[in-house]
Amino acid sequence: MYKKFFIQTFGCQMNEHDSEVMAGLLEERFYVPTKDIKEADFILLNTCCIREKAESKVLSMLGSLKKIKEKKPSLIVGVCGCMIQQKNIVPKILHACPFVNLMFGTNNMNRLPEYLEKIEKNGQPIYEIVDEDSSAELQLPASREYPFKAFVNIMYGCNNFCTYCIVPYVRGRERSRKREDIVAEVRRLVEDGVVEVMLLGQNVDSYGNDFAEPISFASLLKEIDDIPGIERIRFMTSHPKDFSLELIDVIKNSKHICHSLHLPVQSGSNEVLRRMNRKYTREHYLEIVQAMREAIPDVALTTDIIVGFPGETEEQFQETVDLVETVGFDNAFSFIYSKRPGTAAEKFEDQIPLDIKKERLQRLNDVLSKWSLHHNKKYEGQNVKVLVEGLSENNDNMVSGRTDTGKTVIFQGDPSLIGKFVDVNITTAQTWVLKGKLEEEI
Ligand code: 5AD
Ligand code: SF4
Repeated sequence: MYKKFFIQTFGCQMNEHDSEVMAGLLEERFYVPTKDIKEADFILLNTCCIREKAESKVLSMLGSLKKIKEKKPSLIVGVCGCMIQQKNIVPKILHACPFVNLMFGTNNMNRLPEYLEKIEKNGQPIYEIVDEDSSAELQLPASREYPFKAFVNIMYGCNNFCTYCIVPYVRGRERSRKREDIVAEVRRLVEDGVVEVMLLGQNVDSYGNDFAEPISFASLLKEIDDIPGIERIRFMTSHPKDFSLELIDVIKNSKHICHSLHLPVQSGSNEVLRRMNRKYTREHYLEIVQAMREAIPDVALTTDIIVGFPGETEEQFQETVDLVETVGFDNAFSFIYSKRPGTAAEKFEDQIPLDIKKERLQRLNDVLSKWSLHHNKKYEGQNVKVLVEGLSENNDNMVSGRTDTGKTVIFQGDPSLIGKFVDVNITTAQTWVLKGKLEEEI
Protein backbone atom coordinates (compact mmCIF):
# COMPACT_ATOMS: atom_id res chain seq x y z
CA MET A 1 0.00 0.00 0.00
CA TYR A 2 1.44 3.38 -1.05
CA LYS A 3 1.87 6.16 1.47
CA LYS A 4 1.58 9.82 0.61
CA PHE A 5 4.14 12.57 1.13
CA PHE A 6 4.02 16.35 0.97
CA ILE A 7 7.21 18.40 0.80
CA GLN A 8 7.17 22.15 1.39
CA THR A 9 10.34 23.83 0.17
CA PHE A 10 11.62 27.17 1.46
CA GLY A 11 14.50 29.17 0.00
CA CYS A 12 16.73 28.87 -3.02
CA GLN A 13 17.00 26.63 -6.07
CA MET A 14 19.55 24.47 -4.29
CA ASN A 15 16.82 23.63 -1.79
CA GLU A 16 14.28 23.08 -4.55
CA HIS A 17 16.64 20.59 -6.07
CA ASP A 18 17.29 18.88 -2.73
CA SER A 19 13.53 18.46 -2.41
CA GLU A 20 13.40 16.86 -5.86
CA VAL A 21 16.12 14.46 -4.76
CA MET A 22 14.27 13.59 -1.54
CA ALA A 23 11.06 13.10 -3.52
CA GLY A 24 13.02 10.76 -5.79
CA LEU A 25 14.24 8.76 -2.78
CA LEU A 26 10.71 8.54 -1.38
CA GLU A 27 9.21 7.44 -4.67
CA GLU A 28 11.68 4.56 -4.74
CA ARG A 29 10.26 3.47 -1.38
CA PHE A 30 6.52 3.14 -2.00
CA TYR A 31 5.67 6.75 -1.33
CA VAL A 32 3.67 8.90 -3.75
CA PRO A 33 3.41 12.69 -3.75
CA THR A 34 0.18 14.46 -2.82
CA LYS A 35 -0.79 18.10 -3.30
CA ASP A 36 -3.25 17.91 -0.42
CA ILE A 37 -1.33 18.31 2.83
CA LYS A 38 -4.26 16.92 4.86
CA GLU A 39 -4.06 13.49 3.25
CA ALA A 40 -0.27 13.16 3.64
CA ASP A 41 1.24 10.42 5.83
CA PHE A 42 4.55 12.26 5.82
CA ILE A 43 5.01 16.04 5.75
CA LEU A 44 8.52 17.41 5.28
CA LEU A 45 9.58 21.04 5.52
CA ASN A 46 12.83 21.67 3.68
CA THR A 47 13.99 24.84 5.35
CA CYS A 48 16.03 27.97 4.67
CA CYS A 49 17.83 30.21 7.17
CA ILE A 50 19.38 32.87 4.93
CA ARG A 51 17.30 35.60 6.59
CA GLU A 52 15.30 35.67 9.80
CA LYS A 53 12.08 35.97 7.81
CA ALA A 54 12.73 32.60 6.14
CA GLU A 55 12.99 30.99 9.55
CA SER A 56 9.81 32.61 10.86
CA LYS A 57 7.91 31.29 7.83
CA VAL A 58 9.04 27.74 8.70
CA LEU A 59 8.10 28.11 12.36
CA SER A 60 4.70 29.53 11.49
CA MET A 61 3.97 26.67 9.07
CA LEU A 62 5.10 24.16 11.70
CA GLY A 63 2.69 25.75 14.16
CA SER A 64 -0.16 25.23 11.73
CA LEU A 65 0.69 21.53 11.41
CA LYS A 66 -0.11 20.93 15.07
CA LYS A 67 -3.84 20.52 14.36
CA ILE A 68 -3.28 18.10 11.48
CA LYS A 69 -0.99 15.99 13.67
CA GLU A 70 -3.56 15.95 16.50
CA LYS A 71 -6.20 14.59 14.13
CA LYS A 72 -3.81 12.02 12.67
CA PRO A 73 -1.31 10.79 15.27
CA SER A 74 0.38 8.41 12.79
CA LEU A 75 1.48 11.40 10.70
CA ILE A 76 5.26 11.83 10.49
CA VAL A 77 6.34 15.48 10.55
CA GLY A 78 9.90 16.12 9.40
CA VAL A 79 12.03 19.24 9.25
CA CYS A 80 15.24 19.23 7.24
CA GLY A 81 17.63 21.49 5.33
CA CYS A 82 19.75 24.51 6.15
CA MET A 83 17.93 25.64 9.28
CA ILE A 84 18.54 22.28 10.97
CA GLN A 85 22.24 22.44 10.18
CA GLN A 86 22.58 25.39 12.59
CA LYS A 87 23.91 24.88 16.11
CA ASN A 88 21.35 24.30 18.88
CA ILE A 89 18.31 24.53 16.63
CA VAL A 90 16.81 21.09 17.38
CA PRO A 91 15.92 21.85 21.03
CA LYS A 92 14.51 25.21 19.94
CA ILE A 93 12.18 23.60 17.40
CA LEU A 94 11.20 20.84 19.82
CA HIS A 95 10.38 23.41 22.47
CA ALA A 96 7.96 25.16 20.10
CA CYS A 97 6.74 22.04 18.28
CA PRO A 98 7.28 18.85 20.32
CA PHE A 99 5.28 16.80 17.79
CA VAL A 100 8.06 16.95 15.16
CA ASN A 101 9.37 13.39 14.88
CA LEU A 102 12.13 13.70 12.30
CA MET A 103 14.92 16.27 11.86
CA PHE A 104 18.00 16.03 9.70
CA GLY A 105 20.38 18.45 7.99
CA THR A 106 21.64 18.94 4.46
CA ASN A 107 24.43 16.37 4.72
CA ASN A 108 22.33 13.30 5.47
CA MET A 109 19.24 13.75 3.33
CA ASN A 110 20.23 10.59 1.43
CA ARG A 111 19.30 8.65 4.59
CA LEU A 112 15.68 9.82 4.57
CA PRO A 113 14.20 6.43 3.52
CA GLU A 114 16.07 4.66 6.31
CA TYR A 115 14.90 7.21 8.91
CA LEU A 116 11.29 6.80 7.82
CA GLU A 117 11.49 3.04 7.94
CA LYS A 118 12.79 3.17 11.52
CA ILE A 119 10.13 5.62 12.68
CA GLU A 120 7.38 3.58 11.04
CA LYS A 121 8.69 0.47 12.81
CA ASN A 122 9.21 1.71 16.37
CA GLY A 123 7.63 5.16 16.54
CA GLN A 124 10.78 6.69 18.06
CA PRO A 125 11.67 10.17 16.77
CA ILE A 126 14.99 10.67 14.98
CA TYR A 127 17.01 13.89 15.15
CA GLU A 128 20.33 13.56 13.36
CA ILE A 129 22.75 16.19 12.14
CA VAL A 130 25.93 15.18 10.37
CA ASP A 131 28.90 17.50 9.88
CA GLU A 132 30.85 15.75 7.18
CA ASP A 133 29.31 15.37 3.78
CA SER A 134 29.63 12.98 0.89
CA SER A 135 27.01 14.50 -1.42
CA ALA A 136 29.59 15.41 -4.06
CA GLU A 137 30.15 11.68 -4.63
CA LEU A 138 26.57 10.43 -4.41
CA GLN A 139 24.48 10.03 -7.55
CA LEU A 140 20.97 10.34 -6.21
CA PRO A 141 17.78 10.00 -8.26
CA ALA A 142 15.60 13.10 -8.50
CA SER A 143 11.89 13.36 -9.09
CA ARG A 144 11.85 16.45 -11.29
CA GLU A 145 9.14 19.06 -11.16
CA TYR A 146 9.37 19.61 -14.93
CA PRO A 147 10.03 16.84 -17.49
CA PHE A 148 11.80 19.25 -19.85
CA LYS A 149 14.09 21.19 -17.52
CA ALA A 150 16.30 20.16 -14.65
CA PHE A 151 18.61 21.37 -11.93
CA VAL A 152 22.10 19.88 -11.85
CA ASN A 153 24.32 20.42 -8.83
CA ILE A 154 27.89 20.99 -9.87
CA MET A 155 29.25 21.83 -6.43
CA TYR A 156 28.20 22.13 -2.82
CA GLY A 157 29.17 24.53 -0.04
CA CYS A 158 30.98 27.84 0.00
CA ASN A 159 34.42 29.03 1.11
CA ASN A 160 33.82 32.75 0.96
CA PHE A 161 32.48 33.74 4.34
CA CYS A 162 30.84 36.96 3.29
CA THR A 163 30.37 38.51 6.72
CA TYR A 164 26.55 38.65 6.53
CA CYS A 165 26.05 35.12 5.27
CA ILE A 166 25.18 31.93 7.11
CA VAL A 167 25.57 29.62 4.08
CA PRO A 168 29.22 28.59 4.72
CA TYR A 169 28.21 27.55 8.25
CA VAL A 170 25.26 25.41 7.19
CA ARG A 171 26.46 24.12 3.82
CA GLY A 172 30.15 23.61 4.68
CA ARG A 173 33.22 24.02 2.46
CA GLU A 174 33.26 23.87 -1.33
CA ARG A 175 33.10 20.39 -2.82
CA SER A 176 32.95 20.08 -6.60
CA ARG A 177 31.29 17.11 -8.23
CA LYS A 178 33.45 15.20 -10.68
CA ARG A 179 33.27 16.60 -14.18
CA GLU A 180 32.49 13.18 -15.69
CA ASP A 181 29.61 12.64 -13.22
CA ILE A 182 28.09 16.00 -14.12
CA VAL A 183 28.45 15.42 -17.86
CA ALA A 184 26.98 11.91 -17.54
CA GLU A 185 24.05 13.30 -15.58
CA VAL A 186 23.32 15.95 -18.20
CA ARG A 187 23.52 13.31 -20.95
CA ARG A 188 21.05 11.10 -19.06
CA LEU A 189 18.70 14.05 -18.55
CA VAL A 190 18.80 14.93 -22.23
CA GLU A 191 18.01 11.30 -23.14
CA ASP A 192 15.09 11.61 -20.77
CA GLY A 193 13.66 14.63 -22.65
CA VAL A 194 15.31 17.52 -20.80
CA VAL A 195 16.18 20.51 -23.01
CA GLU A 196 17.24 23.04 -20.36
CA VAL A 197 19.60 22.61 -17.42
CA MET A 198 20.33 24.97 -14.56
CA LEU A 199 23.79 24.28 -13.15
CA LEU A 200 23.79 25.00 -9.43
CA GLY A 201 26.46 26.01 -6.94
CA GLN A 202 26.94 28.74 -4.33
CA ASN A 203 29.88 30.02 -6.34
CA VAL A 204 30.01 28.26 -9.70
CA ASP A 205 33.02 30.30 -10.81
CA SER A 206 35.24 28.45 -8.37
CA TYR A 207 34.12 25.06 -9.69
CA GLY A 208 37.02 22.60 -9.78
CA ASN A 209 39.40 24.63 -7.62
CA ASP A 210 39.28 21.87 -5.01
CA PHE A 211 40.55 19.18 -7.40
CA ALA A 212 44.17 17.98 -7.30
CA GLU A 213 44.31 19.08 -10.93
CA PRO A 214 41.97 22.09 -10.99
CA ILE A 215 39.67 22.55 -13.97
CA SER A 216 37.72 25.67 -14.75
CA PHE A 217 33.99 26.25 -14.77
CA ALA A 218 34.42 27.64 -18.29
CA SER A 219 35.81 24.31 -19.52
CA LEU A 220 32.98 22.39 -17.84
CA LEU A 221 30.47 24.67 -19.57
CA LYS A 222 32.15 24.09 -22.91
CA GLU A 223 31.81 20.34 -22.50
CA ILE A 224 28.14 20.57 -21.54
CA ASP A 225 27.49 22.90 -24.47
CA ASP A 226 28.65 20.12 -26.81
CA ILE A 227 26.22 17.50 -25.50
CA PRO A 228 23.89 16.67 -28.40
CA GLY A 229 20.26 17.58 -27.67
CA ILE A 230 20.87 20.21 -24.99
CA GLU A 231 19.12 23.45 -25.94
CA ARG A 232 19.60 25.82 -23.02
CA ILE A 233 22.22 26.00 -20.28
CA ARG A 234 21.82 28.31 -17.31
CA PHE A 235 23.94 28.59 -14.19
CA MET A 236 23.87 30.23 -10.81
CA THR A 237 25.37 31.73 -8.75
CA SER A 238 28.42 33.58 -10.03
CA HIS A 239 30.74 35.59 -7.80
CA PRO A 240 32.37 38.76 -9.19
CA LYS A 241 35.69 37.97 -7.51
CA ASP A 242 36.01 34.65 -9.41
CA PHE A 243 34.13 35.45 -12.61
CA SER A 244 36.66 34.98 -15.41
CA LEU A 245 36.92 36.72 -18.75
CA GLU A 246 37.45 33.24 -20.23
CA LEU A 247 33.83 32.58 -19.28
CA ILE A 248 32.61 35.54 -21.33
CA ASP A 249 34.33 34.07 -24.39
CA VAL A 250 32.82 30.65 -23.75
CA ILE A 251 29.33 32.12 -23.46
CA LYS A 252 29.84 34.21 -26.58
CA ASN A 253 31.05 31.26 -28.64
CA SER A 254 28.60 28.71 -27.29
CA LYS A 255 25.43 27.60 -28.98
CA HIS A 256 23.33 26.89 -25.92
CA ILE A 257 24.48 28.96 -22.94
CA CYS A 258 21.73 31.47 -22.23
CA HIS A 259 22.35 35.17 -22.60
CA SER A 260 21.63 35.98 -19.00
CA LEU A 261 23.98 36.46 -16.09
CA HIS A 262 23.07 36.59 -12.44
CA LEU A 263 25.97 38.36 -10.76
CA PRO A 264 25.25 39.44 -7.18
CA VAL A 265 26.84 42.82 -6.42
CA GLN A 266 25.41 43.26 -2.88
CA SER A 267 26.53 46.91 -2.61
CA GLY A 268 27.88 49.73 -4.74
CA SER A 269 30.14 51.07 -2.01
CA ASN A 270 33.75 49.87 -1.81
CA GLU A 271 33.79 50.40 1.93
CA VAL A 272 30.65 48.28 2.44
CA LEU A 273 31.98 45.63 0.03
CA ARG A 274 35.17 45.48 2.10
CA ARG A 275 33.27 45.01 5.33
CA MET A 276 31.10 42.39 3.65
CA ASN A 277 34.35 40.55 2.75
CA ARG A 278 33.31 40.39 -0.90
CA LYS A 279 36.89 40.77 -2.20
CA TYR A 280 36.12 42.90 -5.27
CA THR A 281 35.52 46.56 -5.89
CA ARG A 282 32.72 48.47 -7.53
CA GLU A 283 35.16 49.27 -10.38
CA HIS A 284 35.93 45.58 -10.96
CA TYR A 285 32.22 44.79 -11.04
CA LEU A 286 31.61 47.51 -13.61
CA GLU A 287 34.48 46.17 -15.73
CA ILE A 288 32.84 42.74 -15.87
CA VAL A 289 29.53 44.34 -16.84
CA GLN A 290 31.18 46.31 -19.61
CA ALA A 291 33.08 43.30 -20.97
CA MET A 292 29.92 41.20 -20.85
CA ARG A 293 27.82 43.77 -22.70
CA GLU A 294 30.51 44.35 -25.31
CA ALA A 295 30.79 40.63 -26.03
CA ILE A 296 27.08 39.77 -25.72
CA PRO A 297 25.00 42.91 -26.37
CA ASP A 298 21.61 41.29 -25.67
CA VAL A 299 22.70 39.81 -22.30
CA ALA A 300 20.24 40.26 -19.42
CA LEU A 301 22.02 41.17 -16.21
CA THR A 302 20.48 40.43 -12.84
CA THR A 303 21.83 40.81 -9.33
CA ASP A 304 21.32 40.56 -5.56
CA ILE A 305 21.57 43.65 -3.35
CA ILE A 306 21.52 44.00 0.41
CA VAL A 307 20.45 47.29 1.98
CA GLY A 308 21.10 48.35 5.55
CA PHE A 309 24.27 46.35 6.12
CA PRO A 310 25.72 47.40 9.52
CA GLY A 311 27.32 50.82 9.28
CA GLU A 312 25.91 51.60 5.81
CA THR A 313 25.66 55.38 5.61
CA GLU A 314 23.19 57.28 3.45
CA GLU A 315 26.10 58.16 1.12
CA GLN A 316 27.12 54.52 0.84
CA PHE A 317 23.54 53.55 0.10
CA GLN A 318 23.50 56.25 -2.59
CA GLU A 319 26.56 54.62 -4.14
CA THR A 320 24.49 51.46 -4.52
CA VAL A 321 21.67 53.41 -6.16
CA ASP A 322 24.24 55.02 -8.41
CA LEU A 323 25.66 51.64 -9.40
CA VAL A 324 22.16 50.41 -10.20
CA GLU A 325 21.64 53.47 -12.41
CA THR A 326 25.01 52.89 -14.08
CA VAL A 327 24.44 49.20 -14.83
CA GLY A 328 20.69 49.31 -15.36
CA PHE A 329 19.94 45.75 -14.28
CA ASP A 330 17.23 43.74 -16.00
CA ASN A 331 16.09 42.48 -12.64
CA ALA A 332 17.31 42.17 -9.09
CA PHE A 333 16.58 40.54 -5.78
CA SER A 334 16.85 43.20 -3.12
CA PHE A 335 17.02 42.35 0.56
CA ILE A 336 17.00 44.06 3.90
CA TYR A 337 20.09 42.98 5.83
CA SER A 338 19.16 40.35 8.40
CA LYS A 339 21.44 39.54 11.32
CA ARG A 340 22.41 35.85 11.29
CA PRO A 341 23.71 33.96 14.31
CA GLY A 342 27.38 33.03 14.17
CA THR A 343 28.30 35.33 11.26
CA ALA A 344 30.93 38.05 11.61
CA ALA A 345 28.51 40.89 10.85
CA GLU A 346 26.28 39.81 13.72
CA LYS A 347 28.79 41.47 16.02
CA PHE A 348 29.33 44.60 13.92
CA GLU A 349 28.39 47.85 15.55
CA ASP A 350 26.03 50.36 13.98
CA GLN A 351 23.23 47.96 13.08
CA ILE A 352 20.79 50.01 11.02
CA PRO A 353 17.28 50.60 12.42
CA LEU A 354 14.53 48.71 10.61
CA ASP A 355 12.63 51.82 9.49
CA ILE A 356 15.73 53.16 7.71
CA LYS A 357 16.37 49.76 6.10
CA LYS A 358 12.77 49.60 4.87
CA GLU A 359 12.90 53.10 3.51
CA ARG A 360 16.16 52.40 1.64
CA LEU A 361 14.72 49.20 0.20
CA GLN A 362 11.71 51.11 -1.10
CA ARG A 363 13.90 53.74 -2.78
CA LEU A 364 16.12 51.05 -4.28
CA ASN A 365 13.15 49.04 -5.56
CA ASP A 366 11.74 52.10 -7.31
CA VAL A 367 14.98 52.45 -9.28
CA LEU A 368 15.17 48.70 -9.96
CA SER A 369 11.64 48.51 -11.35
CA LYS A 370 12.22 51.53 -13.55
CA TRP A 371 15.15 49.69 -15.19
CA SER A 372 13.29 46.42 -15.42
CA LEU A 373 10.48 48.10 -17.36
CA HIS A 374 13.03 49.95 -19.48
CA HIS A 375 14.67 46.68 -20.60
CA ASN A 376 11.36 44.90 -21.11
CA LYS A 377 10.09 47.72 -23.35
CA LYS A 378 12.87 46.88 -25.82
CA TYR A 379 11.10 43.58 -26.50
CA GLU A 380 7.84 45.19 -27.65
CA GLY A 381 7.10 44.34 -31.27
CA GLN A 382 9.85 41.70 -31.36
CA ASN A 383 9.55 37.96 -31.83
CA VAL A 384 11.18 35.86 -29.13
CA LYS A 385 11.84 32.15 -28.72
CA VAL A 386 10.07 30.89 -25.60
CA LEU A 387 10.28 27.56 -23.79
CA VAL A 388 6.74 27.07 -22.47
CA GLU A 389 6.86 26.04 -18.81
CA GLY A 390 3.26 25.82 -17.64
CA LEU A 391 -0.14 27.38 -17.32
CA SER A 392 -0.20 31.01 -16.28
CA GLU A 393 -0.95 31.33 -12.57
CA ASN A 394 -4.01 33.51 -12.96
CA ASN A 395 -5.58 32.34 -16.19
CA ASP A 396 -5.98 28.79 -17.51
CA ASN A 397 -6.26 29.99 -21.12
CA MET A 398 -2.78 31.45 -20.92
CA VAL A 399 0.58 29.77 -20.74
CA SER A 400 3.83 31.06 -19.39
CA GLY A 401 7.40 30.48 -20.45
CA ARG A 402 10.85 32.01 -20.62
CA THR A 403 13.10 33.61 -23.16
CA ASP A 404 16.78 32.76 -23.45
CA THR A 405 17.40 35.94 -21.43
CA GLY A 406 15.21 34.67 -18.60
CA LYS A 407 12.23 36.96 -19.17
CA THR A 408 8.82 35.58 -18.29
CA VAL A 409 6.43 35.63 -21.26
CA ILE A 410 2.67 35.09 -20.99
CA PHE A 411 0.42 34.45 -23.98
CA GLN A 412 -2.78 32.70 -24.97
CA GLY A 413 -2.19 29.01 -25.55
CA ASP A 414 -3.14 25.56 -24.39
CA PRO A 415 -1.37 22.99 -22.20
CA SER A 416 -0.22 20.98 -25.23
CA LEU A 417 2.46 23.65 -25.72
CA ILE A 418 4.10 22.97 -22.34
CA GLY A 419 7.68 21.79 -22.80
CA LYS A 420 7.87 23.10 -26.37
CA PHE A 421 9.75 25.99 -27.94
CA VAL A 422 7.50 28.56 -29.59
CA ASP A 423 7.88 31.86 -31.32
CA VAL A 424 5.98 34.67 -29.58
CA ASN A 425 5.40 38.21 -30.72
CA ILE A 426 5.67 40.59 -27.73
CA THR A 427 2.76 43.00 -27.66
CA THR A 428 2.99 44.53 -24.17
CA ALA A 429 5.95 44.90 -21.85
CA GLN A 430 5.27 45.23 -18.14
CA THR A 431 7.75 45.62 -15.29
CA TRP A 432 7.98 41.91 -14.45
CA VAL A 433 6.44 40.13 -17.46
CA LEU A 434 6.16 40.32 -21.21
CA LYS A 435 2.79 39.65 -22.81
CA GLY A 436 2.51 38.41 -26.35
CA LYS A 437 0.82 36.47 -29.12
CA LEU A 438 1.76 32.98 -30.28
CA GLU A 439 3.26 33.04 -33.77
CA GLU A 440 4.25 29.40 -34.29
CA GLU A 441 5.69 26.28 -32.74
CA ILE A 442 9.37 25.88 -33.45
N1 5AD B 1 20.61 39.36 5.05
C1 5AD B 1 20.05 39.75 3.88
N2 5AD B 1 20.31 39.18 2.70
C2 5AD B 1 21.19 38.17 2.70
N3 5AD B 1 21.66 37.41 1.69
C3 5AD B 1 22.52 36.50 2.19
N4 5AD B 1 22.63 36.66 3.52
C4 5AD B 1 21.80 37.70 3.86
C5 5AD B 1 21.50 38.33 5.08
N5 5AD B 1 22.05 37.98 6.23
C6 5AD B 1 21.29 37.63 0.28
C7 5AD B 1 22.49 37.95 -0.59
C8 5AD B 1 22.68 36.69 -1.39
C9 5AD B 1 21.27 36.18 -1.49
C10 5AD B 1 21.14 34.74 -1.83
O1 5AD B 1 20.72 36.43 -0.22
O2 5AD B 1 22.13 39.03 -1.44
O3 5AD B 1 23.25 36.92 -2.66
FE1 SF4 C 1 27.02 33.46 1.15
FE2 SF4 C 1 29.01 34.88 0.08
FE3 SF4 C 1 29.06 32.20 -0.06
FE4 SF4 C 1 27.29 33.57 -1.53
S1 SF4 C 1 29.53 33.67 -1.73
S2 SF4 C 1 26.88 31.73 -0.29
S3 SF4 C 1 26.78 35.27 -0.17
S4 SF4 C 1 29.17 33.43 1.80
